[in-house]
Amino acid sequence: MGWLEGDVALISGAGSGLGLALVDRFVAEGARVLALDRDADRVRSVEASYPGKVAGIAGDVTVPTDNEKAVALALSVFGRLDTFVGNAGLFDYGARLVDTPMEALSRGFDELFAVNVKGYLLGVKAAVDALIESGGSVVLTASVASRNAGVGGAVYTASKHAVVGLVEQLAFELAPNVRVNGVAPGFMRTDIRGPRALGLADRTLGSMPDLDELARALLPMQFLPDPSDYTGHFVQLASRANAAATTGVVVECDGGFSVRGMGPPPGQ
Ligand SMILES: NC(=O)c1ccc[n+]([C@@H]2O[C@H](COP(=O)([O-])OP(=O)(O)OC[C@H]3O[C@@H](n4cnc5c(N)ncnc54)[C@H](O)[C@@H]3O)[C@@H](O)[C@H]2O)c1
Repeated sequence: MGWLEGDVALISGAGSGLGLALVDRFVAEGARVLALDRDADRVRSVEASYPGKVAGIAGDVTVPTDNEKAVALALSVFGRLDTFVGNAGLFDYGARLVDTPMEALSRGFDELFAVNVKGYLLGVKAAVDALIESGGSVVLTASVASRNAGVGGAVYTASKHAVVGLVEQLAFELAPNVRVNGVAPGFMRTDIRGPRALGLADRTLGSMPDLDELARALLPMQFLPDPSDYTGHFVQLASRANAAATTGVVVECDGGFSVRGMGPPPGQ
């Protein structure tokens, strides 16, 4: 028996990377999933992979009504909602303040924060009544950049620090009905895009050939995790039986980046 047997989860950014791995894992743990992504082809593909277990909706997490439609669909198809996983995100590829023109910085900030921060807030707002009803939970995808400088640029780093703020404030506000936690993964090879205003709409981490080498050199754990390596933390936090007293927590799973100290990792 899985850890999420009978549960229903809404996962944003479910069409690729970590979100897609979360769909696979949540289904394997017995959940049914409402997959929300702005890419309609990806939504169709993930829905087709799990007939009867995954329903999909194409929508933009920055648009209030798209979040509301996703929750309404979860309730009409599956009859309940136990977990909202806010996960859709953009990266700024380390864009440096001094190198970024003022206008691009301003528009890039609005574009990235709209997805990484507002998208999570609107998702929780849309889901909150259903989550109170079910005594459910929220799990937000944070990042190694939620606690560390120098992974992203100022815009991404600030957005992921803001996710910690959302977790803590919403955990306080929604207790005792709804638990709110986060998971802060480190590097993984995905299709993550950046803001169009920063010229990063077509850039992907997946195309960086040296990512494995970088992870080996930088991380004490000395490997580049696969998105699936992070999904267990989401499952545990979503599970009533395994995290009943856990709220306001952000689990760091960054390959040891936060404790890497000076010099090369041990053994190198
Ligand atoms: N890739 C990494 O190394 C890494 C590291 C730490 C944290 N993260 C976080 O993991 C999360 C998932 O990113 P990923 O790396 O799997 O990227 P990804 O691009 O592979 O997947 C993100 C999905 O979100 C969708 N999306 C983007 N904007 C959207 C919007 N406005 N509305 C609806 N859907 C939208 C995309 O279409 C895509 O399918 C993000 O929050 C990211 O910040 C990624």
